[in-house]
Amino acid sequence: MKLRKVKGLNGTIAIPGDKSISHRAVMFGSLAKGTTHITNFLSGADCLATIDCFRAMGVEIEQDGTEVIVHGNGLHGLKKPEKQLDVGNSGTTTRLISGILSGQDFDVTLSGDESLNKRPMGRIMKPLSTMGADIQSVNGDGCAPLKIIGKPLKAVHYDSPVASAQVKSAVLLAGLYADGKTSVTEPALSRNHTELMLQSFGVQVSSQGTTAEVTPPAEMTAADIVVPGDISSAAFFIAAGLVTPDSCITLKQVGINPTRNGILKVCEAMGADLVLSNVKDDSGEPTADITVKTSNLKGTEVGGDLIPALIDEIPVIALMAAFAQGETVIRDAAELKVKESNRIDLTVDNLVKMGVDAEATEDGMIIRGGNPLKGASIHCRYDHRIAMTFSIAGINADGETVIEDAECVDVSYPTFYEQLQMLSGQ
Ligand code: S3P
Repeated sequence: MKLRKVKGLNGTIAIPGDKSISHRAVMFGSLAKGTTHITNFLSGADCLATIDCFRAMGVEIEQDGTEVIVHGNGLHGLKKPEKQLDVGNSGTTTRLISGILSGQDFDVTLSGDESLNKRPMGRIMKPLSTMGADIQSVNGDGCAPLKIIGKPLKAVHYDSPVASAQVKSAVLLAGLYADGKTSVTEPALSRNHTELMLQSFGVQVSSQGTTAEVTPPAEMTAADIVVPGDISSAAFFIAAGLVTPDSCITLKQVGINPTRNGILKVCEAMGADLVLSNVKDDSGEPTADITVKTSNLKGTEVGGDLIPALIDEIPVIALMAAFAQGETVIRDAAELKVKESNRIDLTVDNLVKMGVDAEATEDGMIIRGGNPLKGASIHCRYDHRIAMTFSIAGINADGETVIEDAECVDVSYPTFYEQLQMLSGQ
């Protein structure tokens, strides 16, 4: 993908469905009795991998673009797949499904692409093993491929060392099959979509502070799920509208769940012209339209308990910092090293390539903003969020920017380039 400066971004777009919520809707619909209708499903590669996994375990799932109908098999209705499950590039599929598979009465192996098979799985293997699951890393390196032999599970309380919704969810989903109440305490509150959506499927879940507890149900009941727009996808156009001269963009129906909306707080601290309207809160997952206009941003500090609420947005926040006056310090974000790529190193390397004064630290990065950006050839290591971050950089840089492997945006945002072009009036 080749990009050059644009004359401004203007217009209104609908943001595709939330990736985290789309995964969960398919998973929980598969485990429920009855028919689950999903509207505004994210038809990106990651969520399609989740659909394929559950189809391979005997669940009938109809998909027509963003509309999905899941004919659930009930809590104990999954069947042993004929082959190993392919989880593609998706960490969410891998970790959440591992919790579910731990409690089945069959064994299964799951494996993903090169990047996925390098990501740490010890973080779920440990608590799931404590519950009685037999879960092994096939190559003994703590990564996928994982072989999971379903077992009867014991209820536990798990004190997680990481604020990770994937870890929390893996344990809570295994807890659906345990012999009592299972709870997880995390060091800071991560996204709570699992807790909220399990309740919609009739499961008793309670949350207090950073602890969530699930009571194993006899059955789950089907639900209708309307997936809000993904704030992690909206983030690229929030940043684009703020840093591109002569811009005004409205993003419709974006999810603003407080466990996800850290970027809005950072925008406020940076002095962004950002307005929420049409705020709705009907399903426990609040949404709003977000309007952003070109702004003079100032540097800020990002860290502490806010990190889990914006973990996927840090590369694009770093880009906003490159356009801000003064210094931005991002800390407490070592988790970024084990995402689809090492996002600390890759973000900083690519920023520096474009002429930004940026440096990596142990747990984040420091960006001194204000230098003009120059076009560069960007390597994303097939990381969708790096590709989109540096595409927004490219339309604000002198000269040409080339994004290698740009097709990786399909993982979470297949219509990204189409919408970018539409907003730039080209
Ligand atoms: C996700 C949780 C986050 C996030 C990922 C999606 C989820 O990962 O980075 O993109 O859907 O639960 P961690 O929970 O590992 O931080």
